[in-house]
Amino acid sequence: MKSLKEKIVQEGKVLSDTVLKVDTFLNHQIDPLLMKEIGEEFANRFSDQVITKVLTIESSGIAPATMLGLVIGAPVVFARKKKSLTLANNVYSSKVFSFTKNETNEISVSRDFLSPDDNVLIIDDFLANGEAVKGLLDIAEQAGANVIGVGIVIEKGFQQGGQNLRKQGIRVESLANIKTLANGQVEFFD
Ligand code: G4P
Ligand code: NA
Ligand code: NA
Repeated sequence: MKSLKEKIVQEGKVLSDTVLKVDTFLNHQIDPLLMKEIGEEFANRFSDQVITKVLTIESSGIAPATMLGLVIGAPVVFARKKKSLTLANNVYSSKVFSFTKNETNEISVSRDFLSPDDNVLIIDDFLANGEAVKGLLDIAEQAGANVIGVGIVIEKGFQQGGQNLRKQGIRVESLANIKTLANGQVEFFD
């Protein structure tokens, strides 16, 4: 997606060989017009599929997932990282290990919002090692839902997440796929 790649080049900050900061439009401040285009692009890429639920994880997955939900007219469910006061025991949950933070967190989704009738598209802002997506796949499986694929705003193609998912036969669509962050420069695949 050209406009997204341009935005990454213009505003992204390469913090190290493995970390890209995109706080000006995705992870802290949000650019609503770009986010709207992102929603439309996901809808186009998966237009051959009927999607009944968009599934993501708080917090940075919510903006792109909501824009997609708006375009296709499907509800958006986000997994919670903290136990909420009103979220009782009626949940699917999964453990997600973060290599970046070296910690394991439990994510959960109410059983009210995913069922075997659902055709789910998983959305997230970043794909690194794929642990978050793995947790969301686990939750969808517990619900008996059908996962039609995974849509990612920024894939770090030099890490293993995308490759692992594709090897399992899961359809992964990334709007920008980064080949390398070496020498402080962002280089994309194709
Ligand atoms: P993984 O799910 O692919 O295994 O990723 P990892 O555990 O490494 O990522 C932990 C958090 O860091 C996630 O956000 C993920 O989106 C984010 N992340 C990973 N690599 C990058 C990067 O290069 N740049 C930026 N900006 N973020 C990255 P989170 O902690 O769940 O936070 P939130 O933003 O969704 O609240
Ligand atoms: Na994030
Ligand atoms: Na995320």
